[in-house]
Amino acid sequence: MTVTLRRCGWIAFLGLLCNTAGCDKLAIRFAPEKTADLRATALSQQARDLFWEALHGGQYDRLPEVRRVLTAAYLENPNHPEISLLLAHAHLWTLAERARLAEVPPGVTDHAILAEHYFAEAHRLNPEDRRIPGWLGGVKLALGRIHRDERLTREGYFMLHDAIRAFPEFNGFSAGYVLGSRPREDDRFKEGLDDLWDNLDRCAGERIDRTNPDYRKYMAQETQAGPKRVCWNSRIAPHNFEGFFLAMGDMLVKDGRPAVAKQIYATATLSKSYESWPYRSLLEARMAQAESRAQRFQAADPTRHPEILFNSAHACTACHAQ
Ligand code: HEC
Repeated sequence: MTVTLRRCGWIAFLGLLCNTAGCDKLAIRFAPEKTADLRATALSQQARDLFWEALHGGQYDRLPEVRRVLTAAYLENPNHPEISLLLAHAHLWTLAERARLAEVPPGVTDHAILAEHYFAEAHRLNPEDRRIPGWLGGVKLALGRIHRDERLTREGYFMLHDAIRAFPEFNGFSAGYVLGSRPREDDRFKEGLDDLWDNLDRCAGERIDRTNPDYRKYMAQETQAGPKRVCWNSRIAPHNFEGFFLAMGDMLVKDGRPAVAKQIYATATLSKSYESWPYRSLLEARMAQAESRAQRFQAADPTRHPEILFNSAHACTACHAQ
């Protein structure tokens, strides 16, 4: 009884009725919210700089060091939203570009668990950032499939839907990119492709012809401000535009539509910084091989299918490397 009283003391202080059974739940429910603390330190600055140097430099092999310093910065101040977000991304990047590893250890999937944890933290600390539910939803979806947990898969899927509604210019891609890894005959794969088309419509401000997409007339709309900034290249994602069209072209090839895919791939070449894009030759090979790659997707055995950007060693750096 004394234990119960002590545990409930502060709730009683709030004037709430507390019986033995409900006490624990109330104590949890009324725990103070975790709030943001934006104070920067030498360590948090160092961690942030290191992350961006590695991602912009396409230096996947620096990830162990990046994760180590970001984790130290997180432990120094676990209330810093940006550090949580970058730590989540460091884990996501480790998982996403695992094809770079000479040998992929089974434990690489544990990075999805850590990414989910830190994205959830970042979301709590900065609920205003409408990009986070897109990343978090995608990670939940992946985790649901890794662990064969249908509830988690659905949770991720519906989170992505809400995320698209909240920020269609950005989360349409986040959703479509992840769903693009589903088998081509799966309805979710088709839905992922629709998400990318809808994302483009949002960016262009009108419906784009699905059979003859011509993006040239929208190029003058380029901006660095507002929600539509994410339709273009920026300091954060110096080749976002090129990477988007590479990813979408790959999904169209997988869908058996090489002619439309070639038009979408060619859109990447409209970018002002196309010439300096590290993946230029990759895109050009994709355009040249669109038909033969589409053919290879006809194979019943999925291990014989060609690679798409999402499953490649450049899943993140296609947009983020300078
Ligand atoms: C199609 C291009 C594209 C791909 C692929 C891509 N990103 Fe991004 N990323 C963007 C854009 C666009 C933004 C948003 C920039 C903004 O908000 O202005 C962004 C934002 C970010 C941020 C910034 C968070 C912040 O502090 O604002 C990080 C970190 C990041 N991405 C990491 C990744 C990782 C890791 C991957 C691979 C799993 C990835 N990205 C894949 C385009 C891409």
